[in-house]
Amino acid sequence: MTKQEFKFENVVFFGRSIDEYVSMFDLHLDDLKGKRVLDCSAGPSAFAAQAAQHDITVIACDPRYELDVDTLASLVDDHAEEVQQKQVQSRHLFHPQLVSVAERKLAMKTFLQDYESGKKIGRYVAGALPKLPFGGRSFDLVLCANLLFIYSDVSVGGLMHGSPFTYQFHLDSLRELLRVSRQDVRIYPLQGTDVVEHDWLHPIMKDLAKSGYVSQIRSVDQRDIIGAEEMLRILV
Ligand SMILES: C[S@@+](CC[C@H](N)C(=O)[O-])C[C@H]1O[C@@H](n2cnc3c(N)ncnc32)[C@H](O)[C@@H]1O
Repeated sequence: MTKQEFKFENVVFFGRSIDEYVSMFDLHLDDLKGKRVLDCSAGPSAFAAQAAQHDITVIACDPRYELDVDTLASLVDDHAEEVQQKQVQSRHLFHPQLVSVAERKLAMKTFLQDYESGKKIGRYVAGALPKLPFGGRSFDLVLCANLLFIYSDVSVGGLMHGSPFTYQFHLDSLRELLRVSRQDVRIYPLQGTDVVEHDWLHPIMKDLAKSGYVSQIRSVDQRDIIGAEEMLRILV
């Protein structure tokens, strides 16, 4: 299988643990105690549930939170299987330290166990970019992992053939994430499997600069797709 063949037709409902969030976003959990964080496009990640144990309030947001827990559990099963098969076929595209699908399934189990009670207390909120159901400056920190850039079209450096996520969707989504943040917005990863810079990264940084936003590309510890070792940090 070539690099071009590692692709998705849909955005998978697949998620990671708090340890991976720490690596993807260079988080320092002690500094986040008492803070309010948005995890947008959170999927079945365990970040919100596990952060609560560290006295950090994380609100997870995803369009699929309109669905019930049994439907989400079956999506997790189907999509984990799909990711597993694709990663086995394209192993050379991933870092040797890649966290296994089996370990990620444990994180997704933590999410599923927390989902119903968490939804009742407002930890899981249904919502979709580019228009989020939150007021301006509602969060100290806003995170968005594994949606923007990576699910753009293969032709511009993403993993999706026929992606609905245009340049304008990216720009509108980043402006929306900035609207709800008091400090900064962090995006990971910044590319698909081509190990080259995404076509839209610098144009987007330039467009945001026109509105006065300072963006930085920062190295992070996450080891997933080879070459995807940076996040975008945009200061509010
Ligand atoms: C691959 S998962 C990433 C989950 C988690 N952030 C992580 O990195 O482990 C991508 C998620 O984006 C969600 N999604 C799809 N379209 C979206 C949109 N327009 N706005 C926000 N999230 C969206 C999907 O439902 C899916 O759960």
